[in-house]
Order: sequence, then structure tokens, then C-alpha cells
Amino acid sequence: MKGAIVITGVSSGIGRDALAVLHAKGYHIYGSIRKKADADLLISEYPERFTPLVFDVQDHEEVIKASKIVFKQCTELIALINNAGIAVPGPLQHISEEDFEQQLDINIKAVRRVTNVFLPLLGAQKNFTGSPGRIINISSVSGLFNSPFNGAYCISKHGVESMTDTYRRELYRYGIKVIAIEPGPIKTAIWKKSENQLEKFRDTDYFDVLKNANTIIKRIEKSALPVERIPKVILKCLEKRKPKTRYIVHKNRLLFKLLAYYLPDKLVDWIVYKTASKGDRHRPF
Ligand SMILES: NC(=O)c1ccc[n+]([C@@H]2O[C@H](COP(=O)([O-])OP(=O)(O)OC[C@H]3O[C@@H](n4cnc5c(N)ncnc54)[C@H](OP(=O)(O)O)[C@@H]3O)[C@@H](O)[C@H]2O)c1
Repeated sequence: MKGAIVITGVSSGIGRDALAVLHAKGYHIYGSIRKKADADLLISEYPERFTPLVFDVQDHEEVIKASKIVFKQCTELIALINNAGIAVPGPLQHISEEDFEQQLDINIKAVRRVTNVFLPLLGAQKNFTGSPGRIINISSVSGLFNSPFNGAYCISKHGVESMTDTYRRELYRYGIKVIAIEPGPIKTAIWKKSENQLEKFRDTDYFDVLKNANTIIKRIEKSALPVERIPKVILKCLEKRKPKTRYIVHKNRLLFKLLAYYLPDKLVDWIVYKTASKGDRHRPF
């Protein structure tokens, strides 16, 4: 056995694929799920070296309770992978307080909530005798570039970027490496979950663009990268002696970097506005 890793959100998508790949590599995976049915299914798929942790990342008490299983069985963790997340689409002007709060709570606040609970096992404690672990945050290109009608998600992922850098600098003394993976569109269920969510903005000025949302989502989904691309990067983060601090995983990295880093804001504003107005995509890359 190679050591233990905690992954949040292993019921589907990137988390589930990471579980499959890291488990096959010989790691023991502690995977968070919310529904007992998902836990039972995964236990039947992985009868050995998999332990489900049943918690909702929004519930601090549940996280602490589930973590006790890990603390009982392990003296150290190879890594914590903060993966669980949701995407709340819509114009910032009209997203409800409740939806906005849920977006921020699940995608950012919970990353700190879960990380702090597991930090002692990653090496953030006096007299730790193991090897320092690594924290891998599944961020997004939306943590580097803001797109219209995806603002709540972008804000949450910018928060993840900030939290990644801050933890990395604070945890330097313990030798704990903190890394962000920044995927562009990846084929997972997250896209289906966004379909038809924009209907509620029908009576707003933005509906001239938002009425095309389902077409845009389908288009993005079609050209999205396969989910297997992310565990490959996770393996680099885990096993390289000197991993980078961030990894962009995008089909058109060059165009993305040009828009995110090099072109002037006002030009990008115009390009994004023109792109969104055409109605077949919400951002130009
Ligand atoms: N797919 C993409 O294009 C893409 C691109 C960039 C970044 N990402 C990021 O990748 C991560 C995984 O997303 P995915 O694409 O794999 O989506 P997904 O298939 O929808 O998976 C999301 C996972 O998060 C879990 N989750 C959601 N809310 C939770 C909560 N409150 N407590 C605990 N678990 C919760 C889900 O569990 P349930 O099944 O119980 O809901 C599920 O296991 C997210 O952070 C996402 O922002 C995705």
C-alpha cells in the first residue's frame, strides 16, 4: 500500500475518475460522498483500499465526525484533494442570495473547512514524524478569467486560487505543498446540472443572451476534454518531487493565456461582449 489520500466528491466526474486511477496505483482512498447509496456502490466496486466518508462539505460537524475514521486508521496522509464543487450560473445582478451563498460556501469556504480538519495528518502539527502531505485544489480556468453569466462560479474559483496561494505560503514551514489544478471544460455531469437553470432569468434584460444557454452548454460539453485528463495531472502533483504550483488543463491554452494575461482589459471586455452576444458561446476560448 502506497499511503492514504482523502478526496472530496467521489460520487461522479473528476472525483470518481481520480478515485479509480489513484486506487489502481495502490493508494488507499478515503472518498467523501453524500448519499449512502453512492457509498454502497463504491464499496462494491472497491472492496479493498477504499473507505467512504459520508459528509456534506457544508456541514462542519459531519466533516469532523467522518474525519475521525481517518484519524483512527492513519498517522499521516499523502494528500488531500479538494474536488467537491458546484456551478451556479446566471447574471450576478439576479442570482438569489441563497444560491450565491451556496456557491461560495461549497466551492470556497468548504475548502478551508475540510483542509483545516485534515491538516494535522498532512503534517501541520508539532512533533509530526511522517512525510509532509500535499493539498491539491481542483480550481478552474474560471479562477483566472471572469466570464459573464458564470460570475458566482468565477468568484468562487478565484477564491480557491487565493486560498491555494495563501495556504502554500503559510504551510511552507511544514513542507506541505499546495497546488491548484485549473481545468477548462471537462466532460462530466456538472454541465447537465446547469441545463435549464437559466430559465428563471426569463424576465431579465439578459435573456436575449441567456435563452441560448442550453445550446451553449451542449456546445461546450461536446468539445470538452475527457475526464481522464485530470487524474494524469493529479498524479504529477502527487508524485513529482517538485510539482508546479498550478496546472492549467485547457484545449486552447495559448488563446486562454492571451486573453487572461496579455490583452488589455478593455479589449477583452469587448471581445467577450461580442462573443456572448452572438449567442453560441459565453466566452471566446
Ligand atoms: N467539469 C468541468 O468542466 C470542470 C472544469 C473546471 C473545474 N471543475 C471542478 O471540478 C470539480 C468536480 O466537478 P465535476 O466536473 O467532476 O462535477 P460533478 O460530476 O458534478 O461532481 C461534483 C462532485 O462534488 C460533490 N458535491 C457537490 N456538492 C457537494 C457538497 N455540498 N458536499 C459534498 N460533496 C458535494 C458531488 O456529490 P453529489 O453527487 O452528492 O452531488 C460530486 O461528487 C468541481 O470543483 C468543479 O468546479 C470542473
